Amino acid sequence: MKILILNGSPKRDQSDTMHITRAFVDGMNEYAENEVHTIHVIDKRIEYCTGCFACMRNGGDCIHHDDMRDILEEILESDLLIWSYPLYCYGMPAPLKALLDRTLPLSSMAMHKVGDRYEHVGQADFSHLKYVMICGCGFPNSKHNFEAAVLQFVRCFPNEHTMITVPESPMFNAPEAAVVTEPRLALVKKAGRQYAESGTVSEEMIKEIGSPMIPEEQYAQIVNGTVN
Ligand SMILES: Cc1cc2nc3c(=O)[nH]c(=O)nc-3n(C[C@H](O)[C@H](O)[C@H](O)COP(=O)(O)O)c2cc1C
Repeated sequence: MKILILNGSPKRDQSDTMHITRAFVDGMNEYAENEVHTIHVIDKRIEYCTGCFACMRNGGDCIHHDDMRDILEEILESDLLIWSYPLYCYGMPAPLKALLDRTLPLSSMAMHKVGDRYEHVGQADFSHLKYVMICGCGFPNSKHNFEAAVLQFVRCFPNEHTMITVPESPMFNAPEAAVVTEPRLALVKKAGRQYAESGTVSEEMIKEIGSPMIPEEQYAQIVNGTVN
């Protein structure tokens, strides 16, 4: 399978979140080898969508001539998109949001009702695509933190989506935290294998991966100790 990782962290390979993403993909590769390509979105020239809707009316041709043309092609050639990003103000970092907005050429202006909501009719065939969101964050709590990002992902990709959220993510870049991060990454790897085998990750596993690695108060105390 062709996996395209859209890395939304401006820290590129040093991203806390990418530790989680690499573990997930390692688990998938353990089951069957995949072709994996990572795009560090920060390095791409992606103009903001102007909202002109030209792309939706003319068969998908955007007014901008930038890196998004190649990215859209690569998206359509992929089987799985992994949206790997740190939570920024309860959503995705701006460069990745700019990329998401610029996927508009894949849809036409026409809309149709699916269940009790409306969706745009595709003007490219992306029905084969599956979507995984892997999101790290700096606070120790999962509740009252990831909800907006998760809901945005579900709305944008109503089918074939899997969401993995992990609090206390800066610990993945702290070697002294290995005693708790290594078991968590081992669990994420197991989730990746499970996903490759079955196309989903169990609710229990997603919940366990999304729980704090150390007690919230202890984490806050450590962080506060480094700023005082
Ligand atoms: C602009 C900005 C906004 C942030 N907003 C949140 C937030 O809403 N919730 C949170 O828990 N962490 C927030 N964080 C912390 C990051 O999610 C955290 O540092 C994360 O581990 C960075 O991951 P990365 O290394 O993959 O970029 C924010 C960080 C920045 C720089």
